[in-house]
Amino acid sequence: MSEKNYRFIDACWRKPVDYTPIWIMRQAGRYMKEYQDIRNKVSFLELCKTPELAAEVTILPIDKLGVDAAILFSDILIPVEAMGMNLEFGDGGPHLGSPVKNKSDVDRLIVPSPQEKVPFVMETIKLLRKELDGRVPLIGFSGAPFTLASYMVEGGGTSSFVKIKTMMFKDPETIHALLNKVAKTVICYLNAQIEAGAQAVQIFDSWAGTLSPRDYQEFALSYTKQVIDGLNRENIPVIYFVQGNPGVLELVKQAGSDVIGVDWRINLDVAWNRVGYDVAVQGNLEPCALFLPKDKLEERAKEILNQAGGRPGHIFNLGHGILPQATVENAKFLVEAVHKFRIQNTEDRTQTRE
Ligand code: CP3
Repeated sequence: MSEKNYRFIDACWRKPVDYTPIWIMRQAGRYMKEYQDIRNKVSFLELCKTPELAAEVTILPIDKLGVDAAILFSDILIPVEAMGMNLEFGDGGPHLGSPVKNKSDVDRLIVPSPQEKVPFVMETIKLLRKELDGRVPLIGFSGAPFTLASYMVEGGGTSSFVKIKTMMFKDPETIHALLNKVAKTVICYLNAQIEAGAQAVQIFDSWAGTLSPRDYQEFALSYTKQVIDGLNRENIPVIYFVQGNPGVLELVKQAGSDVIGVDWRINLDVAWNRVGYDVAVQGNLEPCALFLPKDKLEERAKEILNQAGGRPGHIFNLGHGILPQATVENAKFLVEAVHKFRIQNTEDRTQTRE
């Protein structure tokens, strides 16, 4: 690997590294003054669609925090807009006009060509590879089919998921048609990112945690698996993150990613043991732990590193995105703490499942 800091990619492949790499979901965002300054001048969507600005924001946490990977600055809903829905961001988060209600709504959506509909994403990636110049690897990403379909049916955020669940149970034909179309879109979208230079990809299934195991299998897992199977993933590690349902971890493994994202509702050692040591894990500090005083924050970071036990294949992260209320000071402190503790792997590697 030609990167100057190769630790993130090596850890994805479960190769030994001298210290545990860390990056933070939503690491470029409102908790940073420099981000807010840019956002005071342009809207969120404009920021996503202007390669020079998106690249600048992507690099902020590399400079300010010293994290070991960059993640493309964009949003999971960008390809949804390209499919033909009207997307807006307000104070209440994303809003999609004319949510999907029936089969003819699905039929009207397209499987967009990324080069045609979202060329700014690939331009941002190319620009970033140049500007990063191998300092750290660049992660591309997409929402998983179920999570994107939830937004498309609900029309925005929700806590009950009543509309999508009603569709799942009353009109399975429509939801499956929608999920199929979204899965095809995500495959093209991620392959275009890989072709443009993304060195790893993360699939965010932020809302799959709302599903029972059997529904997760039918409506989320099968489509994410379809996506992962469709990726040109040689030398490109795939991270799959399901938020909010530790009850489905064994099923999450069946999607076939190289790395499994773990949220904070389960201890990392328990999670890793359940998915098996033949896959890498990423996580899993409670995001609000960044509000703790530094000594307590350090203790929690150490706890997680101890649970990983120095085994190759752990990438440190929060269990979900960093909150706007977090401070740069504590985020930087966390990165330094993770880099400082080097836990010896006491396990005989020949004894582990390979
Ligand atoms: O990780 C990164 O730094 C890369 C950028 C990134 C953003 N969104 C920037 C963003 C990534 C990877 C995402 C993914 C995303 N977007 C997810 C999956 C991750 C997760 O949190 O589960 C989801 C569900 C979305 C949809 C979304 N975008 C919501 C619900 C919101 C509003 C709520 C919120 O947290 O702000 C957004 C807006 C958004 N996406 C912002 C940023 C920096 C804030 C926009 C602003 O500047 O006002």
